[in-house]
Amino acid sequence: MRLDVVTIFPEYLEPLDVSLVGKARARGVLDVRVHDLRAWTHDRHHTVDDTPYGGGPGMVMKPEPWGEALDEVLASGEPGQDSPVLVVPTPSGQPFTQELAVELAGKPWLVFTPARYEGIDRRVIEEYAERLDVREVSIGDYVLAGGEAPVLVMVEAVARLLPGVLGNAASHQDDSFAPGTMANLLEGPVYTKPPEWRGRGIPEVLLSGHHGRIARWRRDQAFARTVGNRPELVERCAPEALDKHDRAALAALGWEPGTDGRWRPGPGAAPHDGAGQRGGVAEEAAEQADSDRQHGLEQDGSGA
Ligand SMILES: C[S@@+](CC[C@H](N)C(=O)[O-])C[C@H]1O[C@@H](n2cnc3c(N)ncnc32)[C@H](O)[C@@H]1O
Repeated sequence: MRLDVVTIFPEYLEPLDVSLVGKARARGVLDVRVHDLRAWTHDRHHTVDDTPYGGGPGMVMKPEPWGEALDEVLASGEPGQDSPVLVVPTPSGQPFTQELAVELAGKPWLVFTPARYEGIDRRVIEEYAERLDVREVSIGDYVLAGGEAPVLVMVEAVARLLPGVLGNAASHQDDSFAPGTMANLLEGPVYTKPPEWRGRGIPEVLLSGHHGRIARWRRDQAFARTVGNRPELVERCAPEALDKHDRAALAALGWEPGTDGRWRPGPGAAPHDGAGQRGGVAEEAAEQADSDRQHGLEQDGSGA
């Protein structure tokens, strides 16, 4: 995959030489090219911004350097190569999700345009939207000073999905939000050796060697954590994506199916306390669900 980043702070992208993305570059899985936008300015001060039409505070990035930079980057594609997707980081864009990361990971070429100041003159986005797939993307409901950190976020999320980048290709399939069985779910807690640390053990089931039961426990934990931290995600779970054990886990957490089959908090559901942890009631309900399910699991052992 080829990635181009046009920025006024090329040094901000140096972390792309480190860790997973750095290794992917070294192995040739990723071809990352970082360009200094000021190389396409023609005045002594390398000006990239100007005052906004209509007045108001802040500055706006001028269209001319962006136009020249993007034209040159686009023209540098290999003969016959498909046009890139132009990814424009902006707080006013569509949310960056795992689903979008998966989609972008399937593209051969991405060009990122991280801005500064109040953003880029709108005409630049309109101009390229006429000939490219342009995605305006936000990494969250907050405003950063520039788009470079969002580019680092997006590149890392996309790169780890590329074949040959993660040691274990299957590992991202069980991640929070992974399209498929983890869509709209958060991954539960994870543990490693030693089996006891500062008087704290690990859940017995993880030592059982019973793959079905472990898979079920992990999924129950995923429901408990999602209900506790991001209940709105659970409400988005497609009814057909929930098996009978999933429904039992949700019922044990005090959730109920609506007439449309979507699950919602019932009167007995623990209120979301915003503390980032599932509350006591949900904890107890999940534990109860764990033990309630033992019988059924031992019978079918599927953990499905
Ligand atoms: C100070 S921000 C501009 C904010 C803009 N005035 C607004 O209110 O939407 C400058 C640049 O940082 C980047 N940026 C800031 N927050 C972002 C976010 N949440 N997601 C993606 N990019 C962001 C964008 O490139 C943006 O153009």
